[in-house]
Amino acid sequence: MKVGRKHYRSIWFDTETRRVRIIDQRWLPHEFRIADLVTRSDFVTAIADMWVRGAPLIGATAAHAIAEDMKRDPSDSNLDAAWEELHATRPTAINLRWALDGMRALLRPLPEAERAAAAHRRALEICDDDVEINRNIGLHGLETIRRIASRKKPGEAVNILTHCNAGWIATVDWGTATSPMYHAHEAGIAIHVWVDETRPRNQGAQLTAWELGAHGIPHRLVVDNAGGHLMQRGQVDMVIVGTDRTTARGDVCNKIGTYLKALAAHDNGVPFYVALPSPTIDWSVHDGIAEIPIEERHEREVTHVQGRLDDGRIAAVQISPEGTEAGNPAFDVTPARLVTGLITERGVCRASSEGLAALFPECAA
Ligand code: MRU
Repeated sequence: MKVGRKHYRSIWFDTETRRVRIIDQRWLPHEFRIADLVTRSDFVTAIADMWVRGAPLIGATAAHAIAEDMKRDPSDSNLDAAWEELHATRPTAINLRWALDGMRALLRPLPEAERAAAAHRRALEICDDDVEINRNIGLHGLETIRRIASRKKPGEAVNILTHCNAGWIATVDWGTATSPMYHAHEAGIAIHVWVDETRPRNQGAQLTAWELGAHGIPHRLVVDNAGGHLMQRGQVDMVIVGTDRTTARGDVCNKIGTYLKALAAHDNGVPFYVALPSPTIDWSVHDGIAEIPIEERHEREVTHVQGRLDDGRIAAVQISPEGTEAGNPAFDVTPARLVTGLITERGVCRASSEGLAALFPECAA
């Protein structure tokens, strides 16, 4: 998508410098900074400290990390060490393990001399595939938005609520939850997006609002607790969120607070959709609440808030009393029964074993 007039992906291989480059998301929306990732520890830090974040982008970054590490040392032991270190960065997004397992399965049978080139090709391919997958999610989601739009009065916008950032900046391009929005906007369908701020890291306020604003999509930022109220007033036509891991039976793990939005949507008869690329489906787990590890992040993310001061500096300020202990579970699980539909690259299905198996028979088997 565009930043200013230039098209960017969130991660790319710069053919001049021969380095992996990322948009360093820690500074958005106030500063647009690009960072080079070179060593394994650069990649580990970038994922763990959320210079890059969002399940698909975490996977793409891990693939590039393996590729760069293979250039330095293509041995089995280094491959295993890289797998371990990268895998430990963020436990919930399954795209991380999907990318790491895929890279290792590809490289293991190859002679060491061929590994670096093969890993590099595959990392680029994972990125290109992600763009194509998300474009298709957008086209399928567009049809769902179009259907809802057809029930509105002429000229009335479809009000969509989203949580966190499942936007282009959380993927390689297009986003998952935002891709239907971008496609609807391009198709001339009037939409308006309620953007949850998404405490504690404020991905909605900082990233989703930045993205939608840059692409001229009407939106309003709301505090996380506003969603239920807006739904009671009939001001939300649908919810679309992303996911870090969806189970084989359709339970959806996503940014903390998603579950409460799903409960409110259910209570108010608002359709609740989840947009996801197939690498986000964990076919090995069924019960999301019991089986998905939930990342617990640093309490400073709760006790402090980062923003721009009046003098332009970006700073974190403390909002709770000195010494307050904080809990910071980063994700929650929405049971499949609360999900109206899963928007995938192959179409929209029910959040159920049967729904997913019908779209992805080869994986379900
Ligand atoms: O902690 P984050 O910012 O990585 O969490 C991101 C989300 O929860 C997204 O909704 C999810 O990864 C899907 S991104 C297309």
